[in-house]
Amino acid sequence: MHHPKFNDFPADFLWGAASAAYQVEGAWNEDGKGPSVWDLFTKLPGKTFEGSNGDVAVDHYHRVEEDVALMAEMGLKAYRFSVSWPRIFPSGRGEVNEAGLAFYERLIDALLAHGIEPVLTLYHWDLPQALQDEYGGWEDRRIIDDFEHYCVTLYQRFAGKVKYWVSLNEQNYNLTNAYQLGTHPPAVQDRKRFFAANHIAFLANARVIKAFRQHVPNGLIGPSFAYSPAYPASCAPSDMLAFENAEEFTNLWWLDAYCFGRYPQAALAYLRETGEAPEILPGDLELLREGTPDYIGVNYYYTLTFTDNPLGGQTMQRINTTGQKGTTPSSGVPGLYKTTPNPHLETSNWDWAIDPTGMRIALRRLSSRYGLPLMITENGLGEFDKLTADGRVQDDYRIAYLHSHLKACQEAMQDGVELIGYCAWSFTDILSWLNGYQKRYGFVYVERDEQGGSLRRIKKESFHWYSQVIASGGKTL
Ligand code: BG6
Repeated sequence: MHHPKFNDFPADFLWGAASAAYQVEGAWNEDGKGPSVWDLFTKLPGKTFEGSNGDVAVDHYHRVEEDVALMAEMGLKAYRFSVSWPRIFPSGRGEVNEAGLAFYERLIDALLAHGIEPVLTLYHWDLPQALQDEYGGWEDRRIIDDFEHYCVTLYQRFAGKVKYWVSLNEQNYNLTNAYQLGTHPPAVQDRKRFFAANHIAFLANARVIKAFRQHVPNGLIGPSFAYSPAYPASCAPSDMLAFENAEEFTNLWWLDAYCFGRYPQAALAYLRETGEAPEILPGDLELLREGTPDYIGVNYYYTLTFTDNPLGGQTMQRINTTGQKGTTPSSGVPGLYKTTPNPHLETSNWDWAIDPTGMRIALRRLSSRYGLPLMITENGLGEFDKLTADGRVQDDYRIAYLHSHLKACQEAMQDGVELIGYCAWSFTDILSWLNGYQKRYGFVYVERDEQGGSLRRIKKESFHWYSQVIASGGKTL
């Protein structure tokens, strides 16, 4: 569909950028912070790219003022960040660590002082290690109360200052890595345990949304979902069925549970046959329906294309963590689906398909199925960047990526999607969980590598570009 002309972005559109605590803060054991599962996992041999970890990350904890000043200089309207649960409750519950709350208050106040809307993520994967040790983290229903207590602590403290909240970040991607691929802590590979933990996470998500209504009545909350829309490899009915399977198992399993409070039918029937379905206790689905989101946070990076996968076929494989292009194997579930490269799309060096039309499709599918407002809570391009001798980073490939995806947002709005904001991933360079510091996303280059560095901030070409896009309200796109 080609629209005759573009509508303008709304005047109150949240032009943003994002980060996550573990990926930027550092100060991993300062001011009373307890260890998270990532603090321990990254120290195990062979788990991350060249053993990289977030002990220092990009030292945002000590450079909040400098980083917020850069956001203000850019003209950013919104900044999405996450709170580290073990900074607030060092052992997951019990006594609150005031120094942890004070840090986020300083950040929030600095943002507000510059007219930047804070978007607060409650959970971006850094579970307190204490809860993992005590009862196995997401595998035990006790986490629901502990998570609620932590979230309510933040609601009470920040209700008057923070309007936009994200509950769980990428539950789908994080728990798939944690319990199917074994590539995130606690590094389990067991589908039954995966679906069980994932169900408990849905309950926790719904419980904190329910509590939110009471404590932050004027705020908006929703989960951020890693949405990789499925495409069929061809119009062969077997590929179409593989695509339907993939969309249901890899996307609707989460989205329907969040927004409708139920699991999609064919996937649930299949898991009941294989004995992998989660245990649904009386009251569970009612809770899910009481805790549906106000908006859906969308983390969009790429589409995935699927083809038929016979029984005994391709199994789940880990992602490319080196940046060596063309090294990602096909990944799938035998009898259901497997991925195949899309010949129509270019990819990044990490083999992620670059597909702005896929973003428009993602937004349309979500908006028409769930009828909720959407916020892009992440979108961006991870690439090798080069700091030139004269201190510049010419990331025109990133500008091209962001430009085309913002155009796709505009088209989706023209298609009737209610899009309230766009947070590019990321503001500064960050630690990429499994890819170290070499896979860069930021508008601001941070001079460091896996070994360390000066941590100096350098504005990339994309910083200036995004700045003028924001200043024009999107008119210069
Ligand atoms: C999402 C996460 O998975 O995508 C971010 O929410 C992450 O934390 C981003 O950094 C990009 O992924 P990666 O693997 O390239 O760092």
